[in-house]
Amino acid sequence: MKKIKLVKAEHKDVRIMYEWSNDPTTRKNSFSMKPIPWDEHLEWMKKKLVDSNCLFFIGIDEGGNPIGSIRIDKEEGKGVISFCVAPDRRHQGFGEAMLAEIDNIIDPELDIDELIGKVKPDNIASICCFVNNGYIEKERDERKIVYAKKCP
Ligand SMILES: CC(C)(COP(=O)(O)OP(=O)(O)OC[C@H]1O[C@@H](n2cnc3c(N)ncnc32)[C@H](O)[C@@H]1OP(=O)(O)O)[C@@H](O)C(=O)NCCC(=O)NCCS
Repeated sequence: MKKIKLVKAEHKDVRIMYEWSNDPTTRKNSFSMKPIPWDEHLEWMKKKLVDSNCLFFIGIDEGGNPIGSIRIDKEEGKGVISFCVAPDRRHQGFGEAMLAEIDNIIDPELDIDELIGKVKPDNIASICCFVNNGYIEKERDERKIVYAKKCP
């Protein structure tokens, strides 16, 4: 497993998050595929950074460089995971490593019993990340597969 650490996202990460979020593959794999305008992104990120129902992290590699982001949004008592690896760092094990690290830092204050991932059926890299981290397929339709894992 790749060595990474997760640090809390901060306002200084707003630009890099904008770039990663608007990368064409990220948009293609998202359920809302339209490009995200800067102003909308800025407002969205400001809210997320202070949202007590959200844990928002940046993944950092051994050299201290940011390699991606991972977020847990509390929805109906469950933690919904969103993650993204920097376009030039994909397919090197970082997605899998960030997802694994989440198990070690789940905040008890968030009070969730289950982690959930919603993935488009053609997003093979994301599917592999969830399956390799012990998530179980819970639902599937033509638009999405829902993976779930009980909180450790
Ligand atoms: C999805 C994403 C987060 C995965 O992170 P990643 O660092 O690229 O993936 P990893 O390198 O950790 O690979 C995880 C697994 O997927 C496999 N994999 C990676 N890319 C693959 C590809 N293109 N085709 C098939 N398998 C692939 C790897 O072999 C690995 O499986 P293994 O350990 O059994 O060999 C990343 O690709 C990304 O940011 N994509 C765009 C945004 C996105 O789709 N986010 C998720 C929305 S649900």
